[in-house]
Amino acid sequence: MEGTDWRNQTTITELILLGFGELPDLKILLFLMFLVIYMATMAGNTLIVMLVVADQHFHTPMYLFLGNLSYLEICYTSTFLPRLLVSLLTGDRTISVSGCITQLYFSGSLAATECYLLAAMSYDQYLAICKALHYSTLMNNSFCLQLAAGEWLNGCLASIIFVLFLSHLIFCGPNEIDHFYCDPIPLIELSCSDTHLSILVDFIIVSLFTLPPFLLTLTSYVFILDSTLRISSTIGRQKVFSTYSSHLPVVTIFYGTIIIVYMLPKHDTLRDLNKVVSLCFTVLTPLVNPLIYSLRNREVKEALSKALCICGFHKNMQRL
Ligand SMILES: *[C@@H]1O[C@H](CO)[C@@H](O)[C@H](O)[C@H]1NC(C)=O
Repeated sequence: MEGTDWRNQTTITELILLGFGELPDLKILLFLMFLVIYMATMAGNTLIVMLVVADQHFHTPMYLFLGNLSYLEICYTSTFLPRLLVSLLTGDRTISVSGCITQLYFSGSLAATECYLLAAMSYDQYLAICKALHYSTLMNNSFCLQLAAGEWLNGCLASIIFVLFLSHLIFCGPNEIDHFYCDPIPLIELSCSDTHLSILVDFIIVSLFTLPPFLLTLTSYVFILDSTLRISSTIGRQKVFSTYSSHLPVVTIFYGTIIIVYMLPKHDTLRDLNKVVSLCFTVLTPLVNPLIYSLRNREVKEALSKALCICGFHKNMQRL
């Protein structure tokens, strides 16, 4: 490990993110597309955060979690989209090693937080549907606050452990990452230090921090489904169905892409697919989450249309 030939080589402090390759004709098109996506993501999620924070009606666990999710998506897209936009515009694709690891830290901790947040949301739905009578005692605001704090702390913790391992890596070339953001595995593969431990740690951390919330989410939905089958009233069934139709797409997209990107073996033929799937995961999920969760919800829709009307907007702002 130590004392091998990398000692004589110069260490590299800058990496190149190849992004979408050499596509001069497409650059402007890609730039405009990502700019529109970024602005729409920011606008949609900011609106939801403002609604949840400003409107007392929305100070219930379900909406507080939704507000947290939107806030998380704002931070998440901001970890890499602005940089991608700048590099598409200027053609400068370099990023420093420390910049890359910083980006990894933030995107990693936010992704881990999202796992736990989705689990908390599904647990909340489970309590609301299967334990409706005891819901207000089981899911009170202080438990909700504890859950939210736990999610954010967990995310940071997962990422700190991982980044501590990465910060020991030494890079001596080649320095090209065939991706549009700093992805852990391609980054580790570039290092000329011994990487076995880092790859193992990456695998353990991803499993440790995604498997429990995934199982919790799955279990909640199985219980919800089980209780649906026993409901005889159509209204009850409709309520459960609307829960499913808003949560399941989000959860499936989120975990489906994590599995494809991090668990499937890496072949060269899969690399391009990997980039496309990562794109869905990183760019599309933050955009569609607020739409899926909110626009299917009558209360949010009403509040949104009220807020969009200038006078309604005024009232909400005063309540802040
Ligand atoms: C996130 O959740 C916590 C705890 O429930 C809540 O106090 C906070 O207002 C939420 N944040 C947003 C932006 O919704």
